[in-house]
Parts: sequence; structure tokens; C-alpha cells
Amino acid sequence: MIRIAVVGAGRIGSIHTQNVLAAPQTTLTWLADPNIEAANRLAQQAPHVRVTTEPVEAATAADVDAVIVASPTPTHVDLIKAAVAAGKAVLCEKPIDLDLDRARDCLVYVAARGGRAMMGFNRRFDPTFAEIHTAVGQGRIGKVEQLTIISRDLDLAPLDYLTSSGGMFRDMTIHDLDMARWFLGPITEVQATGQNIIDPRVGDIGDIDAGVVVATAESGAVATIVNARRCAFGYDQRLEVFGSSGMLQAANQAPTTVRTTLAHSTDAGPRYEEFFLQRYAASYRRELDAFVSGIAADAVPPPSLFDGVAALELADAAQTSLGKRGAVAIPPSEPPGT
Ligand SMILES: NC(=O)c1ccc[n+]([C@@H]2O[C@H](COP(=O)([O-])OP(=O)(O)OC[C@H]3O[C@@H](n4cnc5c(N)ncnc54)[C@H](O)[C@@H]3O)[C@@H](O)[C@H]2O)c1
Repeated sequence: MIRIAVVGAGRIGSIHTQNVLAAPQTTLTWLADPNIEAANRLAQQAPHVRVTTEPVEAATAADVDAVIVASPTPTHVDLIKAAVAAGKAVLCEKPIDLDLDRARDCLVYVAARGGRAMMGFNRRFDPTFAEIHTAVGQGRIGKVEQLTIISRDLDLAPLDYLTSSGGMFRDMTIHDLDMARWFLGPITEVQATGQNIIDPRVGDIGDIDAGVVVATAESGAVATIVNARRCAFGYDQRLEVFGSSGMLQAANQAPTTVRTTLAHSTDAGPRYEEFFLQRYAASYRRELDAFVSGIAADAVPPPSLFDGVAALELADAAQTSLGKRGAVAIPPSEPPGT
């Protein structure tokens, strides 16, 4: 049994907690959140769990093998370091940090100690995207030339979350930038545009709520990422890989496939899955499964902390590109010690 501490009892911490409780190979020993009500509310599902308002206490406790860091982004680096120093494996939510230098420093710290850490880029574990990735790897559509990702949130996150999120590219697009790296390999150039068109309160905090990023890979292939913070018809998550001999597409998903045809409408289906907790439910379970299987084999699988830093570099470049209205070159980088 892998003994797990979940740090952060908010939206994503709740999902991880439920998955840890449901998985046969894990047991939840600690739950930490400075907000004791949030921690206690979640702990009701796990009567034997120890609850603390001190995240580091949970992350370093003797009866913990692995820590899931699901707290606000600015807390990630210190928690990763504390957990790794105590010999724990870590699954950390994206992004590592909002500051690239701190993220790089964390990567070096973990590498120097031979730490085991995985980034929560859960979309790599979505069954549909994973099937497409495997098919691409098998050469089913020939040489990949273009990747198109459309990712629109159902609705704006709470304003206090957005204020501390680091901006749309670091908070939201970072998932898609990781997908671009996963499908296309190293990215050499990023060009971004964006606007505040959905809610003026987002503009007031200096952010955009819609944007497009074009990322060019070393291979010559190009990824186009389209993001928006609100979508009237549900959570819009589509992906298309276009190759020299074919194309692979992931369509939006709905809770059922029932179609209703009436006098004035044809083939009407239910709304798409509401939001990330529903659409990516399977991905969070498969992510946890990969993490704990890796711990058992003493080799935590990708996405690695290096992948986390690389995606943050691209998000930062997108932010720079937005400001200067031009392309930003991405220097090559390699994991420490290679
Ligand atoms: N992979 C995904 O799909 C996904 C989705 C949402 C959020 N996230 C990431 O997860 C993290 C948390 O996001 P959320 O939406 O769950 O936020 P949230 O605001 O819903 O929850 C955060 C929780 O952390 C607690 N907290 C505050 N300071 C803490 C500390 N020092 N240590 C421990 N807990 C602390 C808060 O009290 C709150 O309960 C962010 O980094 C975010 O980018 C990832």
C-alpha cells in the first residue's frame, strides 16, 4: 500500500483525494489545508485520515510515501522541496511556480537529491488523447505537420483564483503547451495574441480571457492553440493531429450519446461535459495509477519536473510575445545532468 498525503483541499485536491480513496493500491494518511473547514469537509470521506493546517507536517510525516501537491501555485516549490528532502515521491499540480527561475531552481534541487517528482499534466492520461498519441507514435498518419488544440473553459474561475493564477498562458494554456511538446517534441518558437473580450474584470487584473498561441517545433510542425475562459455551450476540448497521410481527431464529449430528432431540430444531443472535473475524470485516475505504479517500480513516469519547467518557459514566452507583438525564440534546454 502506498501511503499518500494530499496537500490542498480545494477543487483539484478533492478529486485527488477521492481517487486515492478509491484506488486499491493507495491509502490516504494525511490531508493538509490551512483552511481547516476545507480540510475537515474533505476528511469526512476518510474517517481515519489525519488532518492538519500545516502542509509541511503532512508532506514530511513518517507515515507518508508520496505527496500530492494540490495547493495554490505559489506554494508548490517549497512543498516539493520539503517532500523530496524527506524522501517522498511527489505528484505536483501545474504549474510548478509562476516564476521561471524558482521553477528551474526547484528542478535542480530535486535532480541533485535524486528526487522522484511528477507534474500533474493530466491531459496526457486522457484515454482519447493517449490513444491518438499512441497512433501518432505508430506512424498511422505519417509525418506530423500540424496540431490544433481548442481548449475553452466553461466559465471564468473565481476572480481571486485568476488574480493569483499568473495569467491565462501560465494557468490555462500551459496544459496545451505541454500537449504541444508531448505531440511535437521540442518547441523552438512561440507567437501569441490575445484579448480581454469576455469579462472586463479580467482586464482590470491585467489579464486576457481569450488567446491564440502558435508554437513551432524543431521538427517543422506547428501547433495552434485556441483558448477562451468562457464557453456558452459547455467545456470545449478538441484536438486534431494532421499528418502527411491522414488525420486524428478528438471530438468533444457529452455524458451520453442520445440524439433527439423532432419536427424542428435534427440530431440534438446533450450538452458537452460540464468542466474539467467531469471531462478529465478518467485522466486524473490514470495519472494517479501511473504515479503509484512508478513509485512501486522506483521510477516515477513522465511528465517530469523538467516537462513542467519546459511548459512554463513556453507560457512565459507566450506572455512576452503578447506584450511585444512578435515571435519569441525558445533556446534549447535539457534536464539537469544530461
Ligand atoms: N490539473 C488540473 O486540471 C488542474 C485543475 C485546477 C487547478 N489545478 C492547479 O491546482 C492548484 C490548486 O487549484 P484549485 O483550483 O484546486 O484551487 P482552490 O482554490 O480550489 O484550492 C486550493 C486549496 O489550497 C488551500 N491552501 C492555501 N494555501 C495552502 C498551503 N500553503 N498549503 C496547502 N493548501 C493551501 C486553500 O485553502 C484551498 O482549499 C493550482 O496550482 C492550479 O493551477 C490543476
